[in-house]
Amino acid sequence: LVASLEQVEETYIMVKPDGVQRGLVGEIISRFEKKGFKLTGLKLFQCPKELAEEHYKDLKARPFFPKLINYITSGPVVCMAWEGVGVVASARKLIGSTDPLQAEPGTIRGDLAVQTGRNVVHGSDSPENGKREIALWFKEGEICQWTPALASWFR
Ligand code: PPS
Repeated sequence: LVASLEQVEETYIMVKPDGVQRGLVGEIISRFEKKGFKLTGLKLFQCPKELAEEHYKDLKARPFFPKLINYITSGPVVCMAWEGVGVVASARKLIGSTDPLQAEPGTIRGDLAVQTGRNVVHGSDSPENGKREIALWFKEGEICQWTPALASWFR
C-alpha cells in the first residue's frame, strides 16, 4: 500500500562493454525483469566519445575520466530504460557498490565483477539523472510506453 502511493520513476541502466563482451547481457536484463520492473527502452549501441563525455560530464575533473571514456567507448553497450515505483534506488541496490569487491554477493557487481574500472553495469543515481540520461541515450520513438496485461503486478 505504501509503495503504491510512491512515485513511478524511470532509470537509465546500461550494460557496459565488458558486460557485453562477457555474454552477461541476458543475465543483467533478467535481474531487473525478475525484480518486477517494466522495460521501456532497449538497444545495442556503439557510443561515440562525445556522448560518453556528456553522460559522465560531472566526473570531468577526476583523474580516471579519460580511462572511463575509453572503457565506455571500447565496444557496444546495451542501453535500457526501466520504469517502476522506486526503480532508481532499487536498481542501484540490485547493481551493488561501485567497487565490485565491496559489492554484496547477490548484487550484479558482487556476483559478476572484480574491478571498479570493469564494473559491468551503470545505473542512474537520482530520478532527475534517470530522466536526463534516458533523454541523452534514446531518441524520440525509441521509448515504448506499454501497459502490461497483468498491470496490477507492477503496482
Ligand atoms: S563519486 O562521484 O566519487 O561518487 O563517483 P562514483 O559514483 O563512485 O563513480 C562515478 C562513476 O565513475 C566510475 N568510476 C571509475 N571508472 C574507472 N576507474 C575508476 N577508478 C573509477 N572510479 C569510479 C564509476 O563506475 C561510476 O560510473 P557508473 O557508470 O555510474 O558506474
